[in-house]
Amino acid sequence: MKAFYKESFKKTDLSVYGDLPDPIAGSHQMLIEVKAVSINPVDYKLNNADTGFIPGAKLPKIVGTDFAGIVRKAAENQDDYKVGDKVYGAVSIFTGKPGSLSELIVTAPKNLRHIPEGMTFEQAASLPVAALTALNGLRRCGVKAGTKLFINGATGGVGHFAVQIAKTKGAYVTASCSEANSDLVLKLGADNRVGYSLRDLEMISEPFDAILDAWGQMKYKDFSRLLKKDGVYASPLILIAPAFLTSLVWLVTGKKITSSNMRKRAEDYDEIEKLFAEKKLTPVIEHTFNLANAAEAFKMAEKGRPRGKVIITM
Ligand SMILES: NC(=O)c1ccc[n+]([C@@H]2O[C@H](COP(=O)([O-])OP(=O)(O)OC[C@H]3O[C@@H](n4cnc5c(N)ncnc54)[C@H](OP(=O)(O)O)[C@@H]3O)[C@@H](O)[C@H]2O)c1
Repeated sequence: MKAFYKESFKKTDLSVYGDLPDPIAGSHQMLIEVKAVSINPVDYKLNNADTGFIPGAKLPKIVGTDFAGIVRKAAENQDDYKVGDKVYGAVSIFTGKPGSLSELIVTAPKNLRHIPEGMTFEQAASLPVAALTALNGLRRCGVKAGTKLFINGATGGVGHFAVQIAKTKGAYVTASCSEANSDLVLKLGADNRVGYSLRDLEMISEPFDAILDAWGQMKYKDFSRLLKKDGVYASPLILIAPAFLTSLVWLVTGKKITSSNMRKRAEDYDEIEKLFAEKKLTPVIEHTFNLANAAEAFKMAEKGRPRGKVIITM
């Protein structure tokens, strides 16, 4: 099969496109013919990293997390999926196991969802990491009807899903993005658009109930000033501040700082799929590449400032 993989642990040796042996599914595993994969920052961060640190690290290491495809062999111990079903999901990349950027993958049934009616492979592959992270971030922010919410970095993978989901919950959304993406952020449903430079942030005078920092790298002094007392700041990145410091901030100011990872629960997928069916959540996909051009797709995702999600098809 064709795949996109690292041949060495070194960070200077980026993934290459080439041939690898087809994987063989065990009796409790599913064999999936992959049709589409979306790129998340975790994928290019891993591609650019020295990957020897991963527990059970093995070479070659196929990169990629999200996928959508068709079941070619079904596991014996389950009745949920059969050969020919269209499925999507995410595999864990921080293991010795292969990622999703190959024509065939082997994974456990628990990593799969049926692709709902009317959803393309590309749309399905765009959802798991980014949409589930956006949903969990909004949950951590306690977003409900009337919440005054600031979404920072609102037209990227996580941000563009977060704006749409927050609107369905009745939040009043102020969203930041670069000038070039102003049209998109308003089309996604944001009530108000601001830039994300320090100067732009300084011009905001009314504080928010919550901030979902989809970009993830706001400085404490900036988000703290923009938060009401008892407000919540959530970032999808692991917080650098030690727990005792965030607890101290909470005790002294009432402001909660939290990290909001992707949460891969069935009820979260259900919510995302329901919103998609109701046409309240639509993935933005402006760049699609073939697997043979995966290196170019990675460059676009990392440096091309894409809107929404970058997709690779097989
Ligand atoms: N922990 C988890 O489970 C998890 C899951 C998903 C993502 N993440 C992390 O969350 C972050 C965002 O992921 P993503 O998929 O949304 O990435 P992305 O698609 O690359 O989007 C990043 C967004 O940040 C904006 N941005 C760039 N510079 C900015 C600045 N100075 N201030 C505010 N916004 C800025 C970009 O806007 P412009 O292009 O207009 O400049 C873009 O919309 C990444 O660091 C990723 O690793 C973590």
